[in-house]
Amino acid sequence: MDVELGCADAQFSFQLAQAHPERFVVGLEIREKVVEANCRKVAEAGIRNLAFGYVNLDVDLDRVFAPRSVDRFHILYPDPWFKNRHHKRRVVKLELCRVMATQLRPGGELHFASDVYEVALEALSELEAPEVGALGFTNLAGEWSFWRGNPYPAASKREDTTIKRGQRPWRIRYRFDPPHS
Ligand SMILES: C[S@@+](CC[C@H](N)C(=O)[O-])C[C@H]1O[C@@H](n2cnc3c(N)ncnc32)[C@H](O)[C@@H]1O
Repeated sequence: MDVELGCADAQFSFQLAQAHPERFVVGLEIREKVVEANCRKVAEAGIRNLAFGYVNLDVDLDRVFAPRSVDRFHILYPDPWFKNRHHKRRVVKLELCRVMATQLRPGGELHFASDVYEVALEALSELEAPEVGALGFTNLAGEWSFWRGNPYPAASKREDTTIKRGQRPWRIRYRFDPPHS
């Protein structure tokens, strides 16, 4: 199962589900109307391997998926929070990594991308922390490195805009191997 966190209109999830009919894809989003619109669109298109859920990632994620049931988490172009007082609202935090570490299967992946370098660097520095390494996450591009190119047959709307503007997506990929597997 592939899970897109904060999927908005879920262009990435739609494209991934259609490119990989053998995979099940789930998009999670906090805006109820957006979730409803995605559900209607998926029903109209008759796509059977794609579903959406209304979730506040800050508090709900640990109750959404069973242990070792997720192959990949995708966090794509999250809303940037520049100011210090917003630091608590960073998307990639140790608590989120702990939840993902219980739900990911061995060999699973955390995939992150942003068009804002500061946001990507902040996520990278969070993920390079020894506590996250101890959970079993390893940077697929090498320590402190971004991944070049898009390894997925799908791109979010924000990624399309980034590329059209001639900007660079800052992509991060971590493989997950639980320490005692
Ligand atoms: C900037 S959009 C990115 C959309 C999409 N991933 C893309 O790349 O085009 C970030 C999305 O995350 C959602 N979001 C923000 N905080 C959230 C939370 N706590 N739980 C779930 N979704 C959240 C927002 O509603 C928004 O749709």
